[in-house]
Amino acid sequence: MFDRIAPVYDLMNRVMTAGLDQRWRRITAQAVVRPGERVLDACCGTGDLALAAAAAGGAVTGLDFSAQMLERARAKSTAVTWLEGDVLALPFADGAFQAATVGFGIRNVDDLGAGLRELRRILAGDGRLAILEITQPTGALAPFYRLWFDRIVPLLGRVLPGGAAYTYLPASVRRFPGKEALADQLRAAGFADVAYRTFAGGIVALHTGRAA
Ligand SMILES: C[S@@+](CC[C@H](N)C(=O)[O-])C[C@H]1O[C@@H](n2cnc3c(N)ncnc32)[C@H](O)[C@@H]1O
Repeated sequence: MFDRIAPVYDLMNRVMTAGLDQRWRRITAQAVVRPGERVLDACCGTGDLALAAAAAGGAVTGLDFSAQMLERARAKSTAVTWLEGDVLALPFADGAFQAATVGFGIRNVDDLGAGLRELRRILAGDGRLAILEITQPTGALAPFYRLWFDRIVPLLGRVLPGGAAYTYLPASVRRFPGKEALADQLRAAGFADVAYRTFAGGIVALHTGRAA
């Protein structure tokens, strides 16, 4: 599915978020990346969060299991080491990284708990994790959000060439745990100091944690 989305992925991001997505990636990278440290951007896709982590000074490896996504990432920069691989079986030693980021990716991983435990495993003690993900808003924005995700995003997917695979998005967001539940899963996977903030009126959440 992600191989099919790859040609329109960046365009869809910009259209769906009115161009705010790159700002969220920059904030995510700056939350956990310190200059000179080794950083894994898992589920890197076309590479924008990995590039934000590199801009924040990290020595970044971007990993994804979609060859088509990675091809686009490679075309953007040689400053990041791009690697094909599965977040559920990361090809790195325990404690190999000081920070890890995942942008709009963990929601798609088959086994969320196992993915979070793998990310914990490859982080050194006190290593930092940032997860940027779509979440379900509560309160006044909720009806608008449902209209956007259930009707308009799939419509955009049909109108934009190659965007048909975007019909997957609403279902994947509905299945994914809410903000508190994700924070609990992070704690269960071995992270401490778990915190989150939201963007765009609560539609996107940034969770951070420290490898305990
Ligand atoms: C929605 S894209 C996010 C791309 C990028 N991180 C961003 O900020 O836009 C989700 C990515 O997760 C990748 N992915 C999903 N499950 C994966 C897994 N188990 N291992 C590696 N990559 C995975 C997909 O191939 C896809 O490129």
